[in-house]
Amino acid sequence: MSTAGDARTSLDAALLGEWLPVCNSPDVPAGESRGFVVAGERLVVWRNAPAAGGPAAQPDISTDAHVWRDVCPHRGAQLSLGTVTGGVLACPYHGWRYDADGQCIHIPANPSIRPAKRACTRTYRVEERYGVVWTCLGEPSRPLDFFPEYDAPGARRINLAAQTVRSSAPRVVENFLDMAHFPFVHTGILGDASHAEVKDYEVIETEDGLEARQCRFWQPAGLPGQEGVDIEYMYRVKRPLVATLSKVAQHGSGALHLLLVASPVSETETRAWLVSVFEDEATHSDQELYDFNMRILMQDTPVVESQWPKRLPLDPQAELHQVCDRLSVGYRRYLRERGWGYGTE
Ligand code: FES
Ligand SMILES: [Fe+2]
Repeated sequence: MSTAGDARTSLDAALLGEWLPVCNSPDVPAGESRGFVVAGERLVVWRNAPAAGGPAAQPDISTDAHVWRDVCPHRGAQLSLGTVTGGVLACPYHGWRYDADGQCIHIPANPSIRPAKRACTRTYRVEERYGVVWTCLGEPSRPLDFFPEYDAPGARRINLAAQTVRSSAPRVVENFLDMAHFPFVHTGILGDASHAEVKDYEVIETEDGLEARQCRFWQPAGLPGQEGVDIEYMYRVKRPLVATLSKVAQHGSGALHLLLVASPVSETETRAWLVSVFEDEATHSDQELYDFNMRILMQDTPVVESQWPKRLPLDPQAELHQVCDRLSVGYRRYLRERGWGYGTE
């Protein structure tokens, strides 16, 4: 599948129904615009200028985010390089001004001409949830509600900066669902070579995906000060590119919930989103928790980038599955049954 040119027309129908992260909410403060690529589509995210006398929070994300195609219909310049004034985004090249609906309302070089209806850019649906600006390149097939743990009262929420992984989105998701690599990739943190066995666990199909229960894995010292213990995990596949992991509250530490979303740049390049929710009693600072999760993600990245082929093979005969791979086998089957193609073989 090609991602060249107007990629949107060649995308899988299934991908067009997905909510995909574009950026973390604070990445685009009020009055600014920035460009991103999602599934081969250039996108601009911009926010109206801050309301006069509005909140002084830093960064100010009090105004609505817009997600548009990042291409000016006049001569194709990137709108994200333009400027926001009031509720209007002006193109950096010839200054055409676009209102919040993506319609050009002013052409400085021909000020008396009323811009044609087709002088408009493509606008996309946008939602802000879990500290993330999401878009859907087509019609959403499901509501954006897959991380209810985010709203746990009193919890701390930490969004990692999106990390680029030069592999397919399904490879990134599958890595997140895999425990057997802990002793080798996250040695001394999430696992230890002397406790490499994956105890058997159960994978069940749920209404919206998969659930892996009774996952237990030896963890030497997850965070400084912790002792080596069997940790209980609950994995869930929520959408083809969305999974969550909950570490059950135990051994004196509160529950931890992670949301992983693999937002494709192309079929073989992905931006990984990790949103963590800590229901603990603040034994570690937000910065320590951020650094810990980032360290884990950085350890995963080179290994996932090394996997070949970069697209996830969905043929059950491809690659060698073991009992410990129950969840990744289930994930591949889940993608197959949905006719999912993007980023797979
Ligand atoms: S390319 Fe945008 S105004 Fe000309
Ligand atoms: Fe990992």
